[in-house]
Formats: sequence, C-alpha cells, structure tokens
Amino acid sequence: MPRDFQPFELERIMSEWEQVVAYNLSESGAHPMRLGELLAYDPSLQERMLETELGYGYAEGAPSLREAIAQYYPGATSENVLVTVGCIEANYLVYTTLLQPGDAVAIQTPNYLQGWGVAHNIGAERRTFSLDPDRGWALDIESMEKAVTDKTRLIAVCNPNNPTGHILTTSEQDAVVRIAEKSGAWVLSDEVYAGAERETDTVTPTLYGRYDRVIASGSLSKAYGLPGLRIGWLVAPKEMIRALWMRHEYLTISAAKLSSHILAPLALRPDVRDSIFARTRQYIRNGWTHFAPWVENHRDMLSLVAPQASAIAFVRYRLKTDSVTLAHRLIRDASVLIGPGDHFGVPGHLRISYGLPPEYLLAGLNRIGRVLRGMRDEA
Ligand SMILES: Cc1ncc(COP(=O)(O)O)c(C=O)c1O
Repeated sequence: MPRDFQPFELERIMSEWEQVVAYNLSESGAHPMRLGELLAYDPSLQERMLETELGYGYAEGAPSLREAIAQYYPGATSENVLVTVGCIEANYLVYTTLLQPGDAVAIQTPNYLQGWGVAHNIGAERRTFSLDPDRGWALDIESMEKAVTDKTRLIAVCNPNNPTGHILTTSEQDAVVRIAEKSGAWVLSDEVYAGAERETDTVTPTLYGRYDRVIASGSLSKAYGLPGLRIGWLVAPKEMIRALWMRHEYLTISAAKLSSHILAPLALRPDVRDSIFARTRQYIRNGWTHFAPWVENHRDMLSLVAPQASAIAFVRYRLKTDSVTLAHRLIRDASVLIGPGDHFGVPGHLRISYGLPPEYLLAGLNRIGRVLRGMRDEA
C-alpha cells in the first residue's frame, strides 16, 4: 500500500456492509429500476441486445449516447462529452487530469468526499468552503472567497448537494462563477442529483456553459435510478475532453457496451427521461411523507433542514457519540446502514436515504429509532 494513502471512508463502510445489513439506508439514489421496467419503453431493444456482439464499445462512448447527453447541456455537442464508468470515474479523471502535487484545490463541504481523498493522494493542497447549516445550508460565500486563491487550480461543487440536498440559488451560482473567474480555476460541478428534485419538477440547471472552465459530471446512477448500468459522463470544452479521454484509456478503456450502446441512450431519450425523473420524484416525495414525521417524532434528538433534492436527508443528532461509532452501533444492534456525517466532512450528522419503498423505509427507520432511544436513555 502506498505510504499515507487516504481511503474513501464512505465507500469503505458501504462496500463492507451494504450487502450484509438487513436495511440499507445508505444508498443515495432512488430505489433502482428493474431492467424490464427500462426496456418496457422500447421492447424491440430486447432483440437488439441479444444480437449484440459483446466486443468493446467506443472508448469515448457510443456516438448516439454522446449526442443524447450533449442535448441537455446548453451549447454542447457530442465532442464536448466523454462517457465514463459512473460519475465516480468522471470525477476521478478530472482530479487526476488537473492536479499535480502541490496544486491547490477548494472543495465544498459537506460533500461526497471522493475529491477530498483523491486530492490528498495526489499530494494536492486542500481547502474547503462550506454550506452553512444555520442558514438552511446556504453557500457561505465568504468562506469560498477565502478558500480560493490565485493558486487554486480546481474548485469542486456538488449541485444538488450530497448530502444536504441543497440546490445553489441563482445568486450562489453567480458567486461560484465570479470567484472562479477571478482566480482562473476550473470548476467541477458534480450534478448527479439533477432530476431528483423534491419540491419542483424543474431539473436543476447545469453550471456548464456559465464560464469557459466549467466541467460538469453526471451519471445514470441517482436521478435515473440506474446505477447498475455504470454509465457516467463529463461535459467540458473539447480540448479538456481530449485530455480526460487519454486518462480514461488508462483506467477503464470504455463503459460496458450494452449500457453505452443500447440502454443508456434509451434512458436519455427525452420522453423516457421525463418519465424516469417522475418515477424518482415519486419515490422521493412518497418517502418524504414517512421520513419527515419520523424525524419530528424524534425531535428531542434529531433535527433537519428539509432537502430540496436527492433521496437522502442529512439529519443532525444530539447524542454524545461520534457519527462513525453511531453508524457501527446501528449496524451491530439494528442491522441498518446509514452514512456517518464525519464521512461528509460534518460531524454530528447522519445521512439517511428515504427514496425507498415505504415498508422497507419504515422498518429501517423503526430500527434506527429504537437504537437512538436506547442510547439517549443510557446517557
Ligand atoms: C455526488 C456523487 N457523485 C458521484 C457518485 C458516484 O456515482 P456513480 O459512479 O454511481 O455515478 C456518487 C455516488 O454516491 C455521488 O453521491
């Protein structure tokens, strides 16, 4: 193992436990679709799948898929798109393409801390700027101004945000662009939750095109409920796409052919996409009707800023135990997995999924409630 390697803590606890626990409330997407549900949008594709030769596909993504992705990004063509194995590869390529040891990066927190670990492993100098829990997770512009300097090579945001579900307001987006432009830094905008809005049917607008150094990442994993297809993407200026593509050849060569050539273009067809997003929002909105009262019933211990998007809630708790210990206690005593706040850069919180079938969700929440009450009474 390389010296001083920082593992990706959140994915570590998830890969250790998600297949083991009785209730997995750590997944951040809506309940996944079945293959049959997706193919029902075009049953003729079944035959095409059976006839497909399982060779490599296009390394950069099938042309039809690159076009299908580009249509959702203003001003983009297929040449602005690289298809990757999930958004996780997409983000990884951006960090490893842009950063060298000693380069500075500014990362929004709380966040999915992939970039935090990758930047450390590269030897980059990390700073954070925050979403403010006391102002409904609004962007703390002052902290961003401090974190970004002339040396900053990359600024990373997640919008809608994992884990809080905060969507940057127009003026917050303007601030991100203004601060980035001033420093000349690239912006990586991870937009995997766009389409999973809870309070509106309007898809969160991309930052792509707002400034000439924006790279948007996305995937079919969260808002589309199709993580098993392992399809992600990057949208960026053409020269940047070529630089990212060269790294992609070292890492994965190409995404799986059946996903890239057949299933992902289907999911991205405008009418299918609308229908999939409606399904996702229904899971999120239904789940919320169970989740919000559950938090309210535990208000002596729990509080929450209602998420604007995503199938997850970032719940603040008032117990002395740190969030990682608490998560392991939930695994041990209730066979339930959640995401500990410390793994998102904010202690004293738990990230809990609620975009799930109600019986499953309620059973998991009941178990969490039992453990929390036990811990409160022990104290
Ligand atoms: C914000 C964010 N980005 C990227 C990913 C990676 O997802 P995938 O590789 O399945 O697209 C995740 C997964 O949880 C995520 O939450």
